[in-house]
Amino acid sequence: MTAVSDARQELERLRREIAHHNVRYHVLDRPEISDAEYDSLFRRLLRLEREHPEWISPDSPTQRVGAAPARDFAQVVHRVPMLSLSNAYSEEELREFDERMRILLDENAVVYVAEPKLDGLSVELVYEHGLLVRGSTRGDGTTGEDVTANLRTIRSIPLRLDDADGSVPALLEVRGEVYIEKDAFRAVNERRASDGLPLFANPRNLAAGSLRQLDSRVSAERPLRMACYDVGAADGVALTSQRELLAVLPRFGLPVNPLYAECSSPEDIIAFYRKMRDERDSLPYETDGVVIKVDRFDLRRLAGTVSRSPRWAVAGKFPAERAVTRLVDILISVGRTGVLTPVASLERVRVRGVEITSATLHNEDEVRTKDIRIGDQVVVQRAGDVIPQIVASLPELRSGNEREFSMPSLCPSCGARIVRLEGETASRCLNTACPARIKQSIGHFASKGALDVDGLGSKLVDQLVEKRLVTRLGDLFRLDCETLAALDRMGPTSAGHLVHTLDRARSVSLARLLYGLGIPEVGATTALLLAHHVGSLDRLTQMPQDELESIPTVGPRTAGAVVDFFANEENRKTLADLLAVGLRIEAEPTATSAPSGALAGKRFAFTGTLSTMTRDEAARRVQSLGASVSGSVSRRTDYVVAGEDGGSKADTARSLGLPLLSESEFLDLLDRSSHA
Ligand code: IVH
Repeated sequence: MTAVSDARQELERLRREIAHHNVRYHVLDRPEISDAEYDSLFRRLLRLEREHPEWISPDSPTQRVGAAPARDFAQVVHRVPMLSLSNAYSEEELREFDERMRILLDENAVVYVAEPKLDGLSVELVYEHGLLVRGSTRGDGTTGEDVTANLRTIRSIPLRLDDADGSVPALLEVRGEVYIEKDAFRAVNERRASDGLPLFANPRNLAAGSLRQLDSRVSAERPLRMACYDVGAADGVALTSQRELLAVLPRFGLPVNPLYAECSSPEDIIAFYRKMRDERDSLPYETDGVVIKVDRFDLRRLAGTVSRSPRWAVAGKFPAERAVTRLVDILISVGRTGVLTPVASLERVRVRGVEITSATLHNEDEVRTKDIRIGDQVVVQRAGDVIPQIVASLPELRSGNEREFSMPSLCPSCGARIVRLEGETASRCLNTACPARIKQSIGHFASKGALDVDGLGSKLVDQLVEKRLVTRLGDLFRLDCETLAALDRMGPTSAGHLVHTLDRARSVSLARLLYGLGIPEVGATTALLLAHHVGSLDRLTQMPQDELESIPTVGPRTAGAVVDFFANEENRKTLADLLAVGLRIEAEPTATSAPSGALAGKRFAFTGTLSTMTRDEAARRVQSLGASVSGSVSRRTDYVVAGEDGGSKADTARSLGLPLLSESEFLDLLDRSSHA
């Protein structure tokens, strides 16, 4: 009996601990333990629950992974309607909003809270006595859809409210936006492209598509996030202003966007609007405007609501980011996995300060549904820093000389027949020896995150493949100075350098190798996860699907892709050949050891030009000390290093209150850390 009650106690303790670390990681962005330590707690809990399935309860952290498919969504009537916002399309209209408020509320000055308008979809979470009982979409504002199972898979949403202050309200309905960050959006689309699946047009569509999945296991694989900004019905907690709301929700473990401002004049409002508009590219998520809200709730009640929008708030929308240009041609690019992508060549045009000359058209169907013809005038759009898109063609401007596009029936690179599988949008070249595919695979294999072979540029790769000097990855290590020196734009020095670099790259970590092999679904992060959990290539190549799926965050799709990859005869030959030419896999730190180094776990972002080293070098230096480097600045960034002309990332860092290091401070930090 005591053994059982000990186990029960341990289980309760583990659940509390894991919930605590979830908040530290996903809400506060201040983890206290390493990912590996977290995983080991999680695995221990899974084991206890397997031994005692009768103890599994819906608020256990293990129950986020997703239940079996629901047949349809039930309807949920919102106790308090979910309103939408009226828009202001100019600074003038924002000023008019402030004037209206001062007249309506009979105040000389009104205090507002200004927030970025997140481009996702709004949802409501209902907590009863601290327990998440229901989550729904906004729907038409009165009735939404019950997407509880899917919302439960979002890690920043607590399944149980934190009762750090001793009590939780009997009822709390919170509203907020579910969204996906730009990097995560790109990663999902890249995977879909190589799988021949239709792509999501923008992060909002992806977030919406993920939330409305009937199978919550699919939602669980999509990196959704949530930021809360409003409360519906509540009992047991009295909030009196937006500022209070934004301070109180995080205490319950509910995520809010910390990037907001208090504005007490129209000038403050305009300043926030301009700042967000100019910095939006460096934010990790998409915003399409700012939301300005009267801070005090008693004043909100006075202002009231017209039709479906409150009078006390307004969305200040950013200007459109579109331009019209001519589509000169449609070229075909063949990717690593053989997928053919039509790429539009455009007459040079500027959109939001950036020159655009090409845009992806994703696949044949997209060209057809948008009725895009070669020679058309088209509308192009840059949304955030996502790859330029063609929004529409303008058929009314046609001269009659435009040509329709069709996918070639033969691969433009190798001449193999192109196939389009039933139910897929992608057309593929199935020839694994296709030069275009090999070129892309080599480029990927040699890239920074993989073997990091400097000096293997695309012009050189083209020659190596076309002269059949490299037909498999392993051939790279067979190249000698003499052969290389005889190639175009190469000489004895660069050839010698490359042979030396390749020789050094022979010794590689398992994670880098896995990433470099270009296994579908396996990006750099998943590669690292697999390497840490599995430890050896031998084990991984033999691992059955269910065992792979038991690794936290590895879903059925990824597991299936890994199994398929290693079952493929060609891939096996490539691997055997790599080992035959002397590729050595370095020992991988095991699952329980945390990243080491004086800067372990720290996140850096670099901006501007450094005078003593390139940004790549700086990145490698901090990585060698255990830190990671990201391209954009977010709340999770620990240090922003600003060189000459730091620009908007530095401003973002200031607005987030992050430590901003000058080059000399950075060098000091490196110096201290290297001797730590
Ligand atoms: S407040 C009644 N705050 O914009 C006020 N909305 O058309 C409720 N949105 O449906 C909304 N970021 O999906 C608010 N910081 C923010 C927001 C935000 C995005 C969305 C939300 C809403 C739509 C308004």
